[in-house]
Amino acid sequence: MGVVAPGFPEFVANPRRNAGFSPGNISSRSCRWIHSTRFVRSSVAPSIGARDPEASYETITAEVVESKSVGLLMLNRPQVLNALSEVCMREVVAALKGFDALPEVGAIVISGKGKAFAAGVDIKELKNKTMVDSFVNPVLDQWNQVSRIRKPLIAAVNGYALGGGCELAMMCDIILVGEKAVFGQPEIKIGTIPGMGGTQRLIREVGKSRAMEMILTGERFMDAKEACQRGLASRVIEGTNEELVAEAVAMAKNISGMSRPAVIMAKAAVNAAYESHLEEGVKREQAFFGATFGLEDRSEGMAAFFEKRKPNFQNK
Ligand code: CAA
Repeated sequence: MGVVAPGFPEFVANPRRNAGFSPGNISSRSCRWIHSTRFVRSSVAPSIGARDPEASYETITAEVVESKSVGLLMLNRPQVLNALSEVCMREVVAALKGFDALPEVGAIVISGKGKAFAAGVDIKELKNKTMVDSFVNPVLDQWNQVSRIRKPLIAAVNGYALGGGCELAMMCDIILVGEKAVFGQPEIKIGTIPGMGGTQRLIREVGKSRAMEMILTGERFMDAKEACQRGLASRVIEGTNEELVAEAVAMAKNISGMSRPAVIMAKAAVNAAYESHLEEGVKREQAFFGATFGLEDRSEGMAAFFEKRKPNFQNK
């Protein structure tokens, strides 16, 4: 591989660091917990370890579907509109890291059971926190680890995506919405502000005026149609929740059929634009683009085009 960009995915840039990385050592029931240091790049928050994604959980369900090519994570606290508790946060992060480490999985879908995606961080837990807690033990920081997952994340949002729920959806790479999707940042109404990246991401998604309106009034929620018009979401899927999730899974399966390293580079390059200035982003894109010319999959993809056949990607 000729060019290695800043922030280049570790396993692409340095395959030797993944010695011992094999499907067997992850999916084996005898090895439930995976040492996170092997898979996770540096993080500010103390790291939550990757977990066998199909282990049993208290607040989510997680499974690999579509011949193991797609990770499907469902928030599962419908009685409290999937409010994001600390246990839920640990389980979501651990399961996502588990999916990220599974070689067969090419993309991940996140959705919610019941009538909400998630109505925010669990206010029952938040209400007793002090300012000191938020400095000494900044628990919400752990959610940042979602944005460090290297494989594409697709949020399938129906019903409420409020507060931390809206912020979790915005940490994903693609948002598909059902007709009843509602986005909002109502934290100001309970005397606080968004704490999982909402003030930073919403302005990039919907512009300053609309972001300010949502964040400062805590009302003026955004429906599915407006979310698509403004570019917060990609498209509305009509029908039931199950149909929405099925569409997201189909999209994830499609992405999973592409060259895995090319997908990871494309995601990192787009995020460079999202997270940095244009000049820096374009430089990173060029470095990633150059790096794809070290891939066997790039040769195969171009050869297949001229031979009028489907490419046979080997993820190399
Ligand atoms: N935390 C804990 N419990 C919640 C919750 C939350 N964020 N949102 C809803 N629930 C619970 C309710 O307390 C209720 O429980 P009970 O049945 O035991 O009373 C249950 O879920 C159903 O909720 P409602 O009866 O309120 O349902 P509704 O349809 O009448 O209203 C709603 C729906 C407008 C979403 C309303 O529940 C609501 O306003 N929820 C809170 C939204 C919010 O403020 N989110 C931001 C949280 S703070 C945050 O997220 C911080 C951050 O940015 C990091």
